[in-house]
Amino acid sequence: MIPQSFIQDLLARVDIVDVIERHLTLKKSGANYFACCPFHGEKSASFSVSPSKQFYHCFGCGVHGSAVGFLMEYSGLSFVEAVKELASYAGLQVPQETRPGFRAEAISAHDGLIDAMTAAARLYREQLKSSPAAIEYLKRRGVSGEIAARFGIGFAPDDWQALRHAFPDYNAKALLDAGLVIENDAGRRYDRFRNRIMFPIQDRRGRIIAFGGRVLDSGEPKYLNSPETPLFEKGRELYGLPQAQKTIRDAGYSIVVEGYMDVVALAQFGVTNAVATLGTATTPHHINTLLRHAQRIVFCFDGDNAGRKAARRALESALEALRDDVTLAFLFLPEQHDPDSFVRANGAEAFNQAAAVATPLTSFLLNELRTECPLDTAEGRAKLVHDAKPLVTRIAAPMLRLQIIKAIADASGFSQGEVETAFGLKPSANSRPPRDAAYGGRRDYGSSGYPASSPGRVRRRPPSEANAPNTLLRLVLQHPAWAARLPVDLVPSDSAEGRALIAIVDMSSTGDLTTNAGLGALVEQFRDTPHADTLARVAAELVDAEFDEDVVEVLFADAMNKLHTNAIAREIAALTAQERESGLSPMDRHRLAELLIEKMSLVNARKVQDV
Ligand code: UTP
Ligand code: MN
Repeated sequence: MIPQSFIQDLLARVDIVDVIERHLTLKKSGANYFACCPFHGEKSASFSVSPSKQFYHCFGCGVHGSAVGFLMEYSGLSFVEAVKELASYAGLQVPQETRPGFRAEAISAHDGLIDAMTAAARLYREQLKSSPAAIEYLKRRGVSGEIAARFGIGFAPDDWQALRHAFPDYNAKALLDAGLVIENDAGRRYDRFRNRIMFPIQDRRGRIIAFGGRVLDSGEPKYLNSPETPLFEKGRELYGLPQAQKTIRDAGYSIVVEGYMDVVALAQFGVTNAVATLGTATTPHHINTLLRHAQRIVFCFDGDNAGRKAARRALESALEALRDDVTLAFLFLPEQHDPDSFVRANGAEAFNQAAAVATPLTSFLLNELRTECPLDTAEGRAKLVHDAKPLVTRIAAPMLRLQIIKAIADASGFSQGEVETAFGLKPSANSRPPRDAAYGGRRDYGSSGYPASSPGRVRRRPPSEANAPNTLLRLVLQHPAWAARLPVDLVPSDSAEGRALIAIVDMSSTGDLTTNAGLGALVEQFRDTPHADTLARVAAELVDAEFDEDVVEVLFADAMNKLHTNAIAREIAALTAQERESGLSPMDRHRLAELLIEKMSLVNARKVQDV
């Protein structure tokens, strides 16, 4: 565990604006900085960074967080990695884990494996230079030296223990754990990759985590990949992602192909936004990773039967990852072509054009269903609905799902309601707004400090009872020192905001609450607690619209007043009920009178404030 105090010191030292500026171009406007959101691909700048809050928020897609959170999301780092990266910006040393826990060991073992992969890749690259046969092969396939360098392509010589040249200790455990060597039953080791063109597989940060090796001639298997190791989980990684990331953002879409050579050949021709899955079907994880960079993904498949089958599998993963604000499309190349041969034969322009008019997921889905069900018979139309059910019910995007349901209703001759009932869905999501509507637009709190229009999320609540904790939480996040002024036993715990508020007041009362390193640091203190999401959400709201400083004191007093009034009202209600049922003791009667007087004075105080 990294000590919490270190994280707080770190966040007090780094500026979130500097951190984000390393990755995005920010423009100052008013108190905040803005950029086009890197997480959802857009043309206008909805992504705001608040230097005073040390927090970012996109009012387009709702992402938000501290500097640590940004690095985790943007660079795909774990929490510990993000803290280390921030520490390196600030020139700080992350203190060693205080407990002699297994985490520390796991992390350094991890580093050891990456070091081993890096050393092996270096050797393979050197070997390529001195292997005429390998150079000749790459030349024949049209790979330039520049592109080979861009992808770190190397060559594993035809030698059982070539890696001895890269590792002083060939028997080191890391070599086996990283999958670089194989140990036979007699305990003798030899290199896994021999006489193969080597494609290093990198994670999003460009660290080498695996290899794919292709035979020079027609040997079997054509491609040999690293086994799954602590570094490498096939279903999560995409070949070529670090090289493609930037173009994916700029172009606004990513291309997914099946082969290493497809990525390399496309890049050779200037199509640099392509990545490949690694001999596995596309997973929802792959899709989510790519959607972080751009809202459109084009899956590219060979024009043969195998390609269609692969497309069908990709479709099923895509259904789960589908969102209303993204486009997933399928590109089927002419028969006999894979992306490599296509781009060589027809050029980049033709490839990009084909990608631009690729079949949208919904059309592909409907076509698949239609070809399997003859729509000119009642049986065929019923089968359409039957076959569609397991696919459509996996779509999480409400609007797209509705569109598909309508199309299925059209094609099958059933009504929309009948299709929905057959799917076991509640009829007509039609009139309901999409789930995320509350984050749809920037809120305008006007000069009074009060919300001018109340978004859906707020509207659903009874106004007075729930608003006090909500307002107080916003105010306390704006002025963390005020937590100390809150009578914690009056805060009702029946809302997430109320519970978060109580947690903050508790932490404040032990002197552990960070009040001067920005809101980002405060929110980080609650990472991995039940309050993390609530606090991050409210903090994000404050980035775009905080209360005017002119009115915060009044709002705070008013919200406290409401807490008191509500607490008194609850006690009065309880005592009156008791009076009706069993009568009151003299002490209770006295208490009730006291409460009634207090209530009146609070009501009067509020009237005075209102004028
Ligand atoms: P292909 O055989 O279509 O590869 O396999 P390719 O990229 O077109 O190969 P070239 O053009 O002949 O060099 C597609 C992908 O499937 C995986 C690899 O990831 C490959 O890039 N694969 C294929 C394997 O993992 N092992 C194999 O034996 C074959
Ligand atoms: Mn090929």
